Amino acid sequence: MSAYAKGDRVRFVGFGEPAPYSRLRIGTEGAVAAVDDLGTVHVDWDDGSRLGMVIAPPGGRPQIGSSGRPRAAPITTDRASRLRANLSKPKAMPPQTPEIKALDFFCGAGGLTRGLLDAGLNVLGGIDNDERLRETYEANNEPSRFVCEDVTALDIDSLRRGLGVAESDTVLYAACTPCQPFSTLNQRRGKDARKSLLLSFADLVRKAPPDYVLVENVPGLNNAYGREIHDAFVKTLDEVGLEHRAGALIDAKDYGVPQIRKRYIMLASRRGEISLPSRQPGRKPTVRTVLKGYPRPVFDGEPELPNHVAREPKSHHLRILEAIPRDGGSRSDVKDTSILLPCHQKTPHLHKDVFGRMAWSLPAPTLTCRCTDVYCGRFAHPVENRGLSLREAAALQTFRDDYAFHGTFFHIAAQIGNAVPVRLARQLGDAVVASATG
Ligand SMILES: C[S@@+](CC[C@H](N)C(=O)[O-])C[C@H]1O[C@@H](n2cnc3c(N)ncnc32)[C@H](O)[C@@H]1O
Repeated sequence: MSAYAKGDRVRFVGFGEPAPYSRLRIGTEGAVAAVDDLGTVHVDWDDGSRLGMVIAPPGGRPQIGSSGRPRAAPITTDRASRLRANLSKPKAMPPQTPEIKALDFFCGAGGLTRGLLDAGLNVLGGIDNDERLRETYEANNEPSRFVCEDVTALDIDSLRRGLGVAESDTVLYAACTPCQPFSTLNQRRGKDARKSLLLSFADLVRKAPPDYVLVENVPGLNNAYGREIHDAFVKTLDEVGLEHRAGALIDAKDYGVPQIRKRYIMLASRRGEISLPSRQPGRKPTVRTVLKGYPRPVFDGEPELPNHVAREPKSHHLRILEAIPRDGGSRSDVKDTSILLPCHQKTPHLHKDVFGRMAWSLPAPTLTCRCTDVYCGRFAHPVENRGLSLREAAALQTFRDDYAFHGTFFHIAAQIGNAVPVRLARQLGDAVVASATG
């Protein structure tokens, strides 16, 4: 028996887990249009939204009805309050915590910004030299502003003034410089000019020292490829009194992210001890946790679910995909090797993940800028003959389903692959708040 009947007024209270999607604003009201046999409540929202999911059916993923109407499971008081608690909205700061203002340098599409906002930091602005990112960044990270500037030529004093940072404010600078110069995938690593971007950021830290610094990069930053840069950066932190530090190689899969993503993280503080977040105990989310329940994406045209678009495989790629066993199969499992690309027939031992399928019960492999291309890694869907949709890739990076990306398909894939997973970013923000709280 549903708790609702036709005509009842309902209010949108938030998102459940696993993250459903919605463009609905929290607080939007509507009227129950129907309750179906499964107890699903169909709502006509007052704002006229056609897209929207209030609460996933118990244990399930949200679905769009063929009518395109939002669906909701019955909302019991308990369920509604549990969902409210799940909301990844900025949390209230503990009473003694100073407001922490943050500047996110090299902000990309805003994965790190989103997590910091969710942790309760006041991210005033994201700085990036790619103007194409503005729309995605600003649409999803209100009230933070996108500042299109080259960090190597930035006047930090006018940036702080412009964004409203006062001398007495508690401030965090975050920097997630491009990973490619330190990445094992980069043949030119070590020589890539972008290597020195961290030192350009260090100049800003030296000129106008913040209270906290957060750096995220690939493990290469802290080994042979990046050692020199890393050490020069740490020297700057010492010079300006950011003497409390925590740095380590971590894997995002240990922090509630359904993806193997090894990263070097450094937190620094002048306000006392600071620690990296603790690994999350218990079962790790997997590809199944995240991808099961998404409807089939479109190859062309406007999807109902934002960015749920995948690339249509070319016919010779489709032939290969059809031959790859479901749920974790690889190119090397294909019996008739004549269907493989000529380069793979010649060098079967190279790039073995290419055309591989993800496995339901494992975390996804590290998503890259080409994470929607089956010929660029183990990025094929576990059972369907296609690569990830942009939405699915974003979900594996723990972006909520209402985080809509703007731009061309390839640029969006790069925005997603480049991002700090939001759930990890949130925990890094929590660590800064914990330090500020003492
Ligand atoms: C790894 S991505 C950042 C991802 C972002 N932190 C997130 O979580 O979504 C690095 C970003 O640095 C930007 N970038 C590269 N060179 C830059 C420069 N000289 N000045 C400003 N931004 C730059 C790129 O446009 C790219 O968006």
